[in-house]
Amino acid sequence: MNTDPNVLVGHGGADDAGVYRISDDSALVLTVDFFTPVVDDPYDYGRVAAVNSLSDVYAMGGRPVVALNVAGFPEKEIAADVLAEILRGGGDVAREAGVAIVGGHTIDDKEVKYGLSVVGFVDPKDMVTNAGAQPGDKLVLTKPIGTGVLSTQHMAEKLDQAGLARLVAVMTQLNKEASEKMRDFGVHACTDVTGFGLLGHANNIAKESGVTVEIEAASVPLIDGALGAARDGYLTGGGNKNRRFLADVLRSDAEPEETLGHLLFDPQTAGGLLVALPADQAQPFVDALLPTHPQAAIVGECTASGDAHLVVR
Ligand code: CO
Ligand code: CO
Ligand code: CO
Repeated sequence: MNTDPNVLVGHGGADDAGVYRISDDSALVLTVDFFTPVVDDPYDYGRVAAVNSLSDVYAMGGRPVVALNVAGFPEKEIAADVLAEILRGGGDVAREAGVAIVGGHTIDDKEVKYGLSVVGFVDPKDMVTNAGAQPGDKLVLTKPIGTGVLSTQHMAEKLDQAGLARLVAVMTQLNKEASEKMRDFGVHACTDVTGFGLLGHANNIAKESGVTVEIEAASVPLIDGALGAARDGYLTGGGNKNRRFLADVLRSDAEPEETLGHLLFDPQTAGGLLVALPADQAQPFVDALLPTHPQAAIVGECTASGDAHLVVR
């Protein structure tokens, strides 16, 4: 339990990053994230991991500024230049984001792991949490989903080059621009879509904001090929875990087609932002994103909390 009044967002809730006030108009946004490879090219993996790590700062409406590399590496089994490629990927993404990597730490490990510990800034008055969604808000998703099943298909060496290129393109796109733009459209709440899947993160908004979130399954943007990967059985253990975790809160008005249903629980890596904002701002926000986020879409809405907190239609 934190008693320091400068801890604005701490351990207790389900938010994306911690926030610590340093003055009336400035707060630190702190997060760390790292994971095992989701693609086999080390440079791409480094980029994906860095994008994913920075995302939690963007989800809070923050501006990341400095970061530290966090890595595990089997020094005896894999050549050192593989680690150099991973770090080069992370470094290139950090540069694109305007973030300085100022150090880090690598340990000898059985499997490769990589990510960043990130520090950003936010004006406490502009901080965006999971907790601000209001009944009547629309929900916008900025990137398509399906990275879990497609990575699984790739790791089974069954995803073709074009499919892999599409997957990497989605996972290496920063949430920087979407985060900057959401402010112009009166954002009420935001989270990034990662390990708990679209429905798991939607449920965090519902729970923390005290609203019911209704997701329109047919409107959810999918990475090209994701439905096929799910249909072919490239499902993840994480997806099943997410489904079990949500069993008690989720109500389905019309059960979505089974493979589409799987994708709604699919754990995402470096997924997009799920943004709650006033209904009349949702389409203008999507339109502003389309040049760089061609699959951004309105995927649902928030209603007054009734007998359910999460509804899929
Ligand atoms: Co997050
Ligand atoms: Co995270
Ligand atoms: Co947040």
